[in-house]
Amino acid sequence: MFGKRTTIGQGTTPARPAIPAPAPASAPPSQPMSSATPASRTPAPPPPLEAARQKSDQYFQTKSLIFGAMIEAIDLSQLSKLDAASARDELRDVITEILTLKSVAMSISEQEELLEDICNDVLGYGPLEPLLARDDIADIMVNGADKTYIEVSGKIQLTNVRFRDNAQLMNICQRIVSQVGRRVDEASPICDARLPDGSRVNVIAPPLAIDGAALTIRKFKKDKLTLEQLVKFGSISVEGAEVLKIIGRVRCNVVISGGTGSGKTTLLNCLTRYIDNDERIITCEDAAELQLQQPHVVRLETRPPNLEGTGQVTMRDLVKNCLRMRPERIIVGEVRGPEVFDLLQAMNTGHDGSMGTIHANSPRECLARMEAMIAMGGYTLLPKTVREMICSSVDVIVQAQRLRDGSRRITHVTEVMGMEGDVIVTQDVFIYDMTGEDANGRIIGKHRSTGIGKPRFWDRARYYGEEKRLAAALDAAELREERVA
Ligand SMILES: Nc1ncnc2c1ncn2[C@@H]1O[C@H](COP(=O)(O)OP(=O)(O)O)[C@@H](O)[C@H]1O
Ligand SMILES: [Mg+2]
Repeated sequence: MFGKRTTIGQGTTPARPAIPAPAPASAPPSQPMSSATPASRTPAPPPPLEAARQKSDQYFQTKSLIFGAMIEAIDLSQLSKLDAASARDELRDVITEILTLKSVAMSISEQEELLEDICNDVLGYGPLEPLLARDDIADIMVNGADKTYIEVSGKIQLTNVRFRDNAQLMNICQRIVSQVGRRVDEASPICDARLPDGSRVNVIAPPLAIDGAALTIRKFKKDKLTLEQLVKFGSISVEGAEVLKIIGRVRCNVVISGGTGSGKTTLLNCLTRYIDNDERIITCEDAAELQLQQPHVVRLETRPPNLEGTGQVTMRDLVKNCLRMRPERIIVGEVRGPEVFDLLQAMNTGHDGSMGTIHANSPRECLARMEAMIAMGGYTLLPKTVREMICSSVDVIVQAQRLRDGSRRITHVTEVMGMEGDVIVTQDVFIYDMTGEDANGRIIGKHRSTGIGKPRFWDRARYYGEEKRLAAALDAAELREERVA
Protein backbone atom coordinates (compact mmCIF):
# COMPACT_ATOMS: atom_id res chain seq x y z
CA MET A 1 0.00 0.00 0.00
CA PHE A 2 1.31 3.42 -0.88
CA GLY A 3 3.09 5.45 1.75
CA LYS A 4 3.11 2.76 4.38
CA ARG A 5 6.30 2.29 6.28
CA THR A 6 5.75 -0.68 8.51
CA THR A 7 3.21 -3.39 8.86
CA ILE A 8 0.72 -2.21 11.38
CA GLY A 9 0.82 -4.00 14.67
CA GLN A 10 4.49 -4.96 14.53
CA GLY A 11 6.72 -3.56 17.23
CA THR A 12 9.29 -1.43 15.43
CA THR A 13 8.47 2.23 15.44
CA PRO A 14 10.05 4.28 12.69
CA ALA A 15 11.01 7.87 13.16
CA ARG A 16 8.04 10.15 12.81
CA PRO A 17 8.12 11.96 9.48
CA ALA A 18 9.36 15.49 9.62
CA ILE A 19 6.54 17.97 9.17
CA PRO A 20 7.16 21.31 7.48
CA ALA A 21 6.54 24.31 9.71
CA PRO A 22 3.90 26.33 7.82
CA ALA A 23 1.67 23.41 7.08
CA PRO A 24 0.69 23.14 3.41
CA ALA A 25 -2.91 22.29 2.67
CA SER A 26 -2.46 18.57 2.84
CA ALA A 27 0.08 18.28 5.64
CA PRO A 28 -0.92 16.87 9.00
CA PRO A 29 -1.35 18.83 12.19
CA SER A 30 2.07 19.35 13.66
CA GLN A 31 1.15 17.79 16.96
CA PRO A 32 -0.06 14.27 16.52
CA MET A 33 -2.28 13.17 19.32
CA SER A 34 0.02 10.41 20.41
CA SER A 35 2.64 12.92 21.44
CA ALA A 36 0.32 15.01 23.55
CA THR A 37 1.94 15.94 26.83
CA PRO A 38 -0.24 16.33 29.89
CA ALA A 39 -0.09 20.09 29.44
CA SER A 40 -1.46 19.99 25.91
CA ARG A 41 -4.27 17.57 26.62
CA THR A 42 -7.75 18.87 26.19
CA PRO A 43 -8.56 20.78 29.35
CA ALA A 44 -11.58 19.80 31.41
CA PRO A 45 -14.64 21.14 29.61
CA PRO A 46 -16.49 24.02 31.25
CA PRO A 47 -19.47 22.95 33.40
CA PRO A 48 -22.42 23.89 31.14
CA LEU A 49 -21.15 21.74 28.31
CA GLU A 50 -20.09 18.81 30.44
CA ALA A 51 -23.16 16.67 29.94
CA ALA A 52 -23.09 16.94 26.20
CA ARG A 53 -19.50 15.91 26.14
CA GLN A 54 -19.25 12.99 28.49
CA LYS A 55 -20.03 10.54 25.72
CA SER A 56 -17.62 12.14 23.35
CA ASP A 57 -14.68 11.96 25.75
CA GLN A 58 -14.35 8.26 25.15
CA TYR A 59 -14.66 8.82 21.46
CA PHE A 60 -11.83 11.32 21.66
CA GLN A 61 -9.64 8.82 23.51
CA THR A 62 -10.21 6.17 20.87
CA LYS A 63 -9.59 8.68 18.16
CA SER A 64 -6.34 9.68 19.82
CA LEU A 65 -5.25 6.04 19.95
CA ILE A 66 -6.06 5.36 16.32
CA PHE A 67 -4.57 8.64 15.24
CA GLY A 68 -1.28 7.80 16.97
CA ALA A 69 -1.10 4.40 15.33
CA MET A 70 -1.94 5.91 11.97
CA ILE A 71 0.83 8.51 12.22
CA GLU A 72 3.31 5.73 12.85
CA ALA A 73 2.03 3.56 10.06
CA ILE A 74 1.95 6.03 7.26
CA ASP A 75 4.48 8.25 5.56
CA LEU A 76 2.72 11.57 5.64
CA SER A 77 5.17 13.34 3.40
CA GLN A 78 4.36 10.82 0.69
CA LEU A 79 0.70 11.24 1.39
CA SER A 80 0.93 14.98 0.75
CA LYS A 81 2.03 14.25 -2.80
CA LEU A 82 -1.24 12.52 -3.63
CA ASP A 83 -4.31 14.37 -4.82
CA ALA A 84 -7.00 14.89 -2.22
CA ALA A 85 -9.22 11.98 -3.25
CA SER A 86 -6.48 9.34 -3.40
CA ALA A 87 -4.92 10.58 -0.17
CA ARG A 88 -8.29 10.17 1.50
CA ASP A 89 -8.71 6.65 0.08
CA GLU A 90 -5.23 5.76 1.24
CA LEU A 91 -5.89 7.06 4.74
CA ARG A 92 -9.19 5.25 5.00
CA ASP A 93 -7.53 1.96 4.07
CA VAL A 94 -4.88 2.39 6.75
CA ILE A 95 -7.33 3.45 9.43
CA THR A 96 -9.71 0.60 8.68
CA GLU A 97 -6.82 -1.80 9.02
CA ILE A 98 -5.82 -0.29 12.36
CA LEU A 99 -9.38 -0.47 13.61
CA THR A 100 -9.50 -4.17 12.79
CA LEU A 101 -6.11 -4.91 14.31
CA LYS A 102 -6.80 -3.06 17.53
CA SER A 103 -10.27 -4.62 17.67
CA VAL A 104 -11.85 -1.35 18.71
CA ALA A 105 -15.38 -1.76 19.97
CA MET A 106 -17.33 0.61 17.78
CA SER A 107 -20.48 0.47 15.75
CA ILE A 108 -20.19 0.79 11.99
CA SER A 109 -21.58 4.29 12.08
CA GLU A 110 -19.14 5.32 14.82
CA GLN A 111 -16.30 3.85 12.80
CA GLU A 112 -17.45 5.78 9.78
CA GLU A 113 -17.56 8.98 11.84
CA LEU A 114 -14.07 8.32 13.16
CA LEU A 115 -12.75 7.69 9.67
CA GLU A 116 -14.16 10.97 8.39
CA ASP A 117 -12.89 12.77 11.45
CA ILE A 118 -9.31 11.62 11.08
CA CYS A 119 -9.26 12.22 7.34
CA ASN A 120 -10.50 15.75 8.00
CA ASP A 121 -7.81 16.29 10.62
CA VAL A 122 -5.04 15.18 8.32
CA LEU A 123 -6.23 16.44 4.97
CA GLY A 124 -8.71 19.18 5.59
CA TYR A 125 -9.82 21.67 8.16
CA GLY A 126 -10.36 19.12 10.92
CA PRO A 127 -13.48 19.54 13.05
CA LEU A 128 -14.57 22.45 10.87
CA GLU A 129 -15.18 20.24 7.83
CA PRO A 130 -18.73 19.14 8.68
CA LEU A 131 -19.69 22.78 9.31
CA LEU A 132 -18.07 23.93 6.10
CA ALA A 133 -19.99 21.28 4.20
CA ARG A 134 -23.34 22.58 5.41
CA ASP A 135 -25.12 25.05 3.19
CA ASP A 136 -27.49 26.43 5.78
CA ILE A 137 -24.78 28.03 7.91
CA ALA A 138 -24.07 31.73 7.40
CA ASP A 139 -21.20 32.18 9.87
CA ILE A 140 -18.89 29.91 11.83
CA MET A 141 -17.36 31.39 14.96
CA VAL A 142 -14.66 29.47 16.80
CA ASN A 143 -13.79 30.87 20.22
CA GLY A 144 -10.78 28.81 21.20
CA ALA A 145 -10.62 25.02 21.04
CA ASP A 146 -13.69 24.32 23.13
CA LYS A 147 -16.46 26.50 21.78
CA THR A 148 -17.71 26.83 18.25
CA TYR A 149 -20.85 28.74 17.40
CA ILE A 150 -22.71 28.90 14.11
CA GLU A 151 -25.34 31.19 12.73
CA VAL A 152 -28.31 29.47 11.13
CA SER A 153 -31.30 31.45 9.86
CA GLY A 154 -30.26 34.53 11.72
CA LYS A 155 -29.80 32.81 15.08
CA ILE A 156 -26.54 31.99 16.81
CA GLN A 157 -26.22 28.45 18.19
CA LEU A 158 -23.52 26.58 20.10
CA THR A 159 -22.31 23.41 18.34
CA ASN A 160 -20.65 20.32 19.80
CA VAL A 161 -17.64 20.84 17.55
CA ARG A 162 -14.43 21.03 19.51
CA PHE A 163 -10.76 20.94 18.72
CA ARG A 164 -8.25 18.68 20.40
CA ASP A 165 -6.49 21.67 21.89
CA ASN A 166 -5.53 25.21 21.02
CA ALA A 167 -2.50 23.95 19.14
CA GLN A 168 -4.69 21.99 16.73
CA LEU A 169 -6.91 25.02 16.27
CA MET A 170 -3.90 27.22 15.54
CA ASN A 171 -2.65 24.64 13.12
CA ILE A 172 -5.88 24.69 11.18
CA CYS A 173 -5.91 28.49 11.19
CA GLN A 174 -2.38 28.40 9.84
CA ARG A 175 -3.37 25.92 7.18
CA ILE A 176 -6.21 28.16 6.04
CA VAL A 177 -4.19 31.36 5.83
CA SER A 178 -1.11 29.76 4.29
CA GLN A 179 -3.24 28.93 1.26
CA VAL A 180 -3.40 32.60 0.42
CA GLY A 181 0.27 33.12 1.23
CA ARG A 182 -0.19 34.58 4.70
CA ARG A 183 0.93 33.65 8.15
CA VAL A 184 -0.62 33.85 11.56
CA ASP A 185 1.42 33.48 14.73
CA GLU A 186 2.36 35.38 17.86
CA ALA A 187 4.33 37.88 15.83
CA SER A 188 1.47 38.62 13.41
CA PRO A 189 -1.64 37.54 15.29
CA ILE A 190 -4.29 39.13 13.07
CA CYS A 191 -4.96 37.78 9.63
CA ASP A 192 -7.65 37.92 6.95
CA ALA A 193 -7.89 35.16 4.40
CA ARG A 194 -10.27 33.37 2.13
CA LEU A 195 -11.15 29.72 1.75
CA PRO A 196 -10.90 28.16 -1.71
CA ASP A 197 -14.71 28.34 -1.96
CA GLY A 198 -14.66 32.12 -1.43
CA SER A 199 -15.66 32.19 2.25
CA ARG A 200 -14.12 35.05 4.18
CA VAL A 201 -11.91 34.19 7.12
CA ASN A 202 -10.56 36.24 10.01
CA VAL A 203 -8.14 34.89 12.56
CA ILE A 204 -7.01 36.60 15.72
CA ALA A 205 -4.54 34.51 17.65
CA PRO A 206 -3.07 34.56 21.14
CA PRO A 207 -1.74 36.59 22.86
CA LEU A 208 -4.37 39.00 21.53
CA ALA A 209 -7.13 36.42 21.82
CA ILE A 210 -6.90 35.38 25.43
CA ASP A 211 -8.68 32.00 25.37
CA GLY A 212 -7.16 30.56 22.23
CA ALA A 213 -7.42 31.63 18.62
CA ALA A 214 -10.70 33.17 17.50
CA LEU A 215 -11.57 32.12 13.98
CA THR A 216 -14.52 33.67 12.16
CA ILE A 217 -15.74 32.41 8.83
CA ARG A 218 -18.42 34.13 6.76
CA LYS A 219 -19.56 31.29 4.55
CA PHE A 220 -19.71 32.01 0.87
CA LYS A 221 -23.15 31.38 -0.55
CA LYS A 222 -22.94 30.17 -4.11
CA ASP A 223 -26.55 30.87 -4.78
CA LYS A 224 -26.88 34.47 -3.82
CA LEU A 225 -30.31 35.60 -2.77
CA THR A 226 -32.37 37.50 -5.32
CA LEU A 227 -34.84 40.31 -4.77
CA GLU A 228 -37.65 37.84 -5.50
CA GLN A 229 -36.43 35.68 -2.64
CA LEU A 230 -36.13 38.69 -0.35
CA VAL A 231 -39.79 39.43 -1.14
CA LYS A 232 -40.68 35.85 -0.30
CA PHE A 233 -38.84 36.12 3.03
CA GLY A 234 -40.73 39.32 3.79
CA SER A 235 -37.55 41.40 3.75
CA ILE A 236 -39.23 43.84 1.41
CA SER A 237 -42.66 44.30 -0.17
CA VAL A 238 -43.33 43.45 -3.82
CA GLU A 239 -43.69 47.13 -4.65
CA GLY A 240 -40.57 48.04 -2.69
CA ALA A 241 -38.60 45.44 -4.63
CA GLU A 242 -39.93 46.78 -7.91
CA VAL A 243 -38.81 50.30 -6.98
CA LEU A 244 -35.36 48.95 -6.01
CA LYS A 245 -35.06 47.27 -9.40
CA ILE A 246 -35.83 50.56 -11.09
CA ILE A 247 -33.34 52.37 -8.84
CA GLY A 248 -30.67 49.88 -9.89
CA ARG A 249 -31.47 50.13 -13.57
CA VAL A 250 -31.79 53.92 -13.93
CA ARG A 251 -28.35 54.60 -12.48
CA CYS A 252 -29.21 56.16 -9.16
CA ASN A 253 -26.19 56.49 -6.88
CA VAL A 254 -26.98 54.16 -4.03
CA VAL A 255 -25.54 53.66 -0.57
CA ILE A 256 -26.63 50.54 1.26
CA SER A 257 -26.47 51.01 4.99
CA GLY A 258 -26.72 48.40 7.73
CA GLY A 259 -25.03 46.63 10.60
CA THR A 260 -22.74 43.63 10.34
CA GLY A 261 -24.53 40.67 8.82
CA SER A 262 -27.67 42.71 8.13
CA GLY A 263 -27.61 41.74 4.47
CA LYS A 264 -25.82 44.72 2.88
CA THR A 265 -23.65 42.73 0.52
CA THR A 266 -26.60 40.52 -0.40
CA LEU A 267 -28.66 43.57 -1.22
CA LEU A 268 -25.87 45.16 -3.22
CA ASN A 269 -25.55 41.96 -5.20
CA CYS A 270 -29.32 41.99 -5.83
CA LEU A 271 -29.26 45.56 -7.09
CA THR A 272 -26.43 44.90 -9.52
CA ARG A 273 -28.61 42.39 -11.35
CA TYR A 274 -30.60 45.24 -12.83
CA ILE A 275 -27.63 46.95 -14.41
CA ASP A 276 -27.75 46.88 -18.22
CA ASN A 277 -25.46 44.45 -19.98
CA ASP A 278 -23.56 47.03 -21.99
CA GLU A 279 -22.22 48.97 -19.00
CA ARG A 280 -18.58 48.80 -17.93
CA ILE A 281 -18.58 48.03 -14.21
CA ILE A 282 -15.62 48.02 -11.86
CA THR A 283 -15.95 46.42 -8.44
CA CYS A 284 -13.63 47.08 -5.49
CA GLU A 285 -13.77 44.72 -2.53
CA ASP A 286 -11.70 43.57 0.40
CA ALA A 287 -12.55 39.98 -0.44
CA ALA A 288 -14.44 39.32 -3.65
CA GLU A 289 -18.02 38.42 -2.72
CA LEU A 290 -20.14 40.09 -5.35
CA GLN A 291 -21.31 38.01 -8.27
CA LEU A 292 -22.14 40.28 -11.13
CA GLN A 293 -24.01 38.78 -14.05
CA GLN A 294 -22.93 41.33 -16.64
CA PRO A 295 -20.27 40.52 -19.23
CA HIS A 296 -18.19 43.69 -18.87
CA VAL A 297 -16.93 43.63 -15.29
CA VAL A 298 -13.47 44.26 -13.85
CA ARG A 299 -13.08 42.89 -10.33
CA LEU A 300 -10.49 44.41 -8.00
CA GLU A 301 -9.45 43.35 -4.54
CA THR A 302 -7.42 45.15 -1.87
CA ARG A 303 -4.24 43.65 -0.48
CA PRO A 304 -3.00 43.73 3.11
CA PRO A 305 0.66 44.50 3.79
CA ASN A 306 3.09 41.58 3.51
CA LEU A 307 5.22 40.27 6.35
CA GLU A 308 7.68 43.12 5.99
CA GLY A 309 4.79 45.56 6.31
CA THR A 310 4.90 46.79 2.73
CA GLY A 311 2.95 46.29 -0.44
CA GLN A 312 -0.42 47.23 0.99
CA VAL A 313 -3.06 48.33 -1.49
CA THR A 314 -5.95 50.08 0.23
CA MET A 315 -9.54 50.51 -0.85
CA ARG A 316 -8.73 54.14 -1.41
CA ASP A 317 -5.95 53.21 -3.86
CA LEU A 318 -8.35 50.98 -5.74
CA VAL A 319 -11.20 53.47 -5.94
CA LYS A 320 -8.81 56.20 -7.10
CA ASN A 321 -7.38 53.91 -9.71
CA CYS A 322 -10.84 52.99 -10.91
CA LEU A 323 -11.37 56.53 -12.07
CA ARG A 324 -8.59 56.06 -14.60
CA MET A 325 -10.15 52.90 -15.97
CA ARG A 326 -13.07 54.50 -17.76
CA PRO A 327 -15.72 52.92 -15.61
CA GLU A 328 -19.39 53.57 -16.12
CA ARG A 329 -20.23 52.38 -12.65
CA ILE A 330 -18.05 51.79 -9.63
CA ILE A 331 -19.24 49.33 -7.02
CA VAL A 332 -17.46 49.38 -3.67
CA GLY A 333 -18.12 46.32 -1.52
CA GLU A 334 -17.57 48.01 1.80
CA VAL A 335 -16.81 51.67 2.35
CA ARG A 336 -15.00 52.00 5.65
CA GLY A 337 -12.76 55.01 5.43
CA PRO A 338 -11.53 57.93 3.39
CA GLU A 339 -12.28 56.11 0.11
CA VAL A 340 -15.78 57.47 0.60
CA PHE A 341 -14.46 60.78 -0.71
CA ASP A 342 -13.30 59.18 -3.95
CA LEU A 343 -16.52 57.23 -4.33
CA LEU A 344 -18.61 60.37 -3.83
CA GLN A 345 -16.47 62.15 -6.34
CA ALA A 346 -16.94 59.34 -8.82
CA MET A 347 -20.71 59.50 -8.28
CA ASN A 348 -20.51 63.21 -8.90
CA THR A 349 -18.45 63.10 -12.05
CA GLY A 350 -20.40 61.08 -14.52
CA HIS A 351 -20.22 57.64 -12.99
CA ASP A 352 -23.87 57.61 -12.03
CA GLY A 353 -25.19 54.37 -10.77
CA SER A 354 -22.22 53.77 -8.50
CA MET A 355 -22.95 51.91 -5.32
CA GLY A 356 -21.39 51.01 -2.01
CA THR A 357 -22.24 49.73 1.44
CA ILE A 358 -21.65 51.55 4.73
CA HIS A 359 -21.86 50.32 8.27
CA ALA A 360 -24.62 52.36 9.96
CA ASN A 361 -27.89 51.76 11.77
CA SER A 362 -30.12 54.28 10.07
CA PRO A 363 -30.07 56.47 6.97
CA ARG A 364 -29.35 59.48 9.21
CA GLU A 365 -26.44 57.72 10.84
CA CYS A 366 -25.22 56.69 7.43
CA LEU A 367 -24.98 60.34 6.38
CA ALA A 368 -23.09 61.17 9.57
CA ARG A 369 -20.74 58.23 8.98
CA MET A 370 -19.93 59.48 5.52
CA GLU A 371 -19.07 62.88 6.94
CA ALA A 372 -16.88 61.31 9.61
CA MET A 373 -15.10 59.11 7.07
CA ILE A 374 -14.29 62.09 4.90
CA ALA A 375 -12.76 63.76 7.95
CA MET A 376 -10.65 60.60 8.45
CA GLY A 377 -9.01 61.33 5.11
CA GLY A 378 -7.57 64.51 6.58
CA TYR A 379 -9.55 66.89 4.37
CA THR A 380 -10.08 70.26 5.95
CA LEU A 381 -13.41 70.99 4.36
CA LEU A 382 -16.18 72.88 6.06
CA PRO A 383 -18.93 70.56 7.32
CA LYS A 384 -21.38 72.33 5.06
CA THR A 385 -19.19 71.72 2.02
CA VAL A 386 -18.94 68.04 2.90
CA ARG A 387 -22.70 67.77 3.28
CA GLU A 388 -23.25 69.51 -0.01
CA MET A 389 -20.93 67.02 -1.60
CA ILE A 390 -22.85 64.11 -0.11
CA CYS A 391 -26.14 65.63 -1.23
CA SER A 392 -25.06 66.11 -4.77
CA SER A 393 -23.65 62.59 -4.99
CA VAL A 394 -25.95 60.18 -3.20
CA ASP A 395 -29.46 59.67 -4.53
CA VAL A 396 -30.79 56.85 -2.42
CA ILE A 397 -29.93 55.17 0.88
CA VAL A 398 -31.27 51.66 1.39
CA GLN A 399 -31.21 50.56 5.00
CA ALA A 400 -30.86 46.87 5.91
CA GLN A 401 -31.40 45.59 9.42
CA ARG A 402 -31.15 42.32 11.24
CA LEU A 403 -33.99 42.37 13.74
CA ARG A 404 -33.76 40.77 17.15
CA ASP A 405 -35.72 37.68 16.03
CA GLY A 406 -33.01 36.98 13.46
CA SER A 407 -35.02 38.11 10.45
CA ARG A 408 -33.47 40.54 8.01
CA ARG A 409 -35.50 43.42 6.63
CA ILE A 410 -35.07 46.40 4.43
CA THR A 411 -36.28 49.06 6.82
CA HIS A 412 -35.87 52.19 4.71
CA VAL A 413 -35.62 53.22 1.11
CA THR A 414 -34.72 56.85 1.60
CA GLU A 415 -33.96 59.63 -0.86
CA VAL A 416 -31.41 62.33 -0.25
CA MET A 417 -33.25 65.49 -1.25
CA GLY A 418 -30.91 68.41 -0.71
CA MET A 419 -29.82 70.93 1.89
CA GLU A 420 -31.91 73.14 4.09
CA GLY A 421 -29.46 75.52 5.69
CA ASP A 422 -26.76 73.31 7.15
CA VAL A 423 -28.88 70.20 7.30
CA ILE A 424 -29.32 67.40 4.77
CA VAL A 425 -32.96 66.74 4.03
CA THR A 426 -34.07 63.18 3.34
CA GLN A 427 -37.37 61.64 2.35
CA ASP A 428 -38.45 58.05 2.99
CA VAL A 429 -40.10 56.28 0.08
CA PHE A 430 -40.66 52.98 1.85
CA ILE A 431 -40.28 52.09 5.50
CA TYR A 432 -40.80 49.05 7.67
CA ASP A 433 -43.02 49.53 10.70
CA MET A 434 -42.67 47.15 13.61
CA THR A 435 -45.97 46.70 15.38
CA GLY A 436 -45.25 44.01 17.92
CA GLU A 437 -44.18 40.46 18.56
CA ASP A 438 -46.04 37.17 18.25
CA ALA A 439 -46.06 34.33 20.81
CA ASN A 440 -42.89 32.80 19.36
CA GLY A 441 -40.95 36.02 19.67
CA ARG A 442 -41.18 36.74 15.95
CA ILE A 443 -41.47 40.39 15.12
CA ILE A 444 -44.68 41.53 13.49
CA GLY A 445 -44.59 44.49 11.20
CA LYS A 446 -45.17 45.61 7.68
CA HIS A 447 -43.60 47.55 4.90
CA ARG A 448 -45.43 50.65 3.94
CA SER A 449 -45.13 53.28 1.32
CA THR A 450 -44.98 56.83 2.62
CA GLY A 451 -47.18 57.96 -0.23
CA ILE A 452 -44.51 59.77 -2.20
CA GLY A 453 -46.05 60.11 -5.64
CA LYS A 454 -43.03 61.51 -7.41
CA PRO A 455 -39.64 60.72 -5.93
CA ARG A 456 -36.62 62.80 -6.83
CA PHE A 457 -35.32 60.14 -9.19
CA TRP A 458 -38.47 60.42 -11.27
CA ASP A 459 -36.72 62.31 -14.06
CA ARG A 460 -34.02 59.73 -14.18
CA ALA A 461 -36.63 57.02 -14.49
CA ARG A 462 -38.22 58.92 -17.34
CA TYR A 463 -34.86 59.30 -19.06
CA TYR A 464 -34.41 55.54 -18.99
CA GLY A 465 -37.98 54.86 -20.05
CA GLU A 466 -38.99 53.44 -16.67
CA GLU A 467 -41.42 56.20 -15.76
CA LYS A 468 -44.55 54.08 -16.22
CA ARG A 469 -43.15 51.18 -14.29
CA LEU A 470 -42.18 53.45 -11.40
CA ALA A 471 -45.60 55.08 -11.36
CA ALA A 472 -47.27 51.68 -11.37
CA ALA A 473 -45.15 50.41 -8.47
CA LEU A 474 -45.81 53.52 -6.39
CA ASP A 475 -49.53 53.40 -7.16
CA ALA A 476 -49.73 49.76 -6.21
CA ALA A 477 -48.04 50.53 -2.91
CA GLU A 478 -50.51 53.37 -2.29
CA LEU A 479 -53.41 51.13 -3.06
CA ARG A 480 -52.24 48.50 -0.64
CA GLU A 481 -52.02 51.21 2.04
CA GLU A 482 -55.63 52.21 1.42
CA ARG A 483 -56.81 48.60 1.45
CA VAL A 484 -55.13 48.01 4.78
CA ALA A 485 -56.41 51.28 6.23
N1 LIG B 1 -33.10 39.30 3.54
C1 LIG B 1 -32.43 38.22 3.96
N2 LIG B 1 -33.08 37.14 4.44
C2 LIG B 1 -32.43 36.08 4.89
N3 LIG B 1 -31.09 35.95 4.90
C3 LIG B 1 -30.37 36.98 4.43
C4 LIG B 1 -31.00 38.17 3.95
N4 LIG B 1 -30.04 39.02 3.56
C5 LIG B 1 -28.87 38.40 3.80
N5 LIG B 1 -29.05 37.17 4.31
C6 LIG B 1 -27.99 36.23 4.72
O1 LIG B 1 -27.33 36.83 5.82
C7 LIG B 1 -25.94 36.61 5.77
C8 LIG B 1 -25.19 37.92 5.85
O2 LIG B 1 -25.48 38.70 4.73
P1 LIG B 1 -24.46 39.75 4.11
O3 LIG B 1 -25.14 40.34 2.93
O4 LIG B 1 -23.12 39.14 3.87
O5 LIG B 1 -24.36 40.81 5.29
P2 LIG B 1 -23.43 42.11 5.45
O6 LIG B 1 -22.80 42.40 4.13
O7 LIG B 1 -24.38 43.19 5.89
O8 LIG B 1 -22.44 41.79 6.53
C9 LIG B 1 -25.69 35.85 4.48
O9 LIG B 1 -25.54 34.50 4.79
C10 LIG B 1 -26.94 36.08 3.66
O10 LIG B 1 -27.23 35.00 2.80
MG1 LIG C 1 -20.77 42.51 3.66
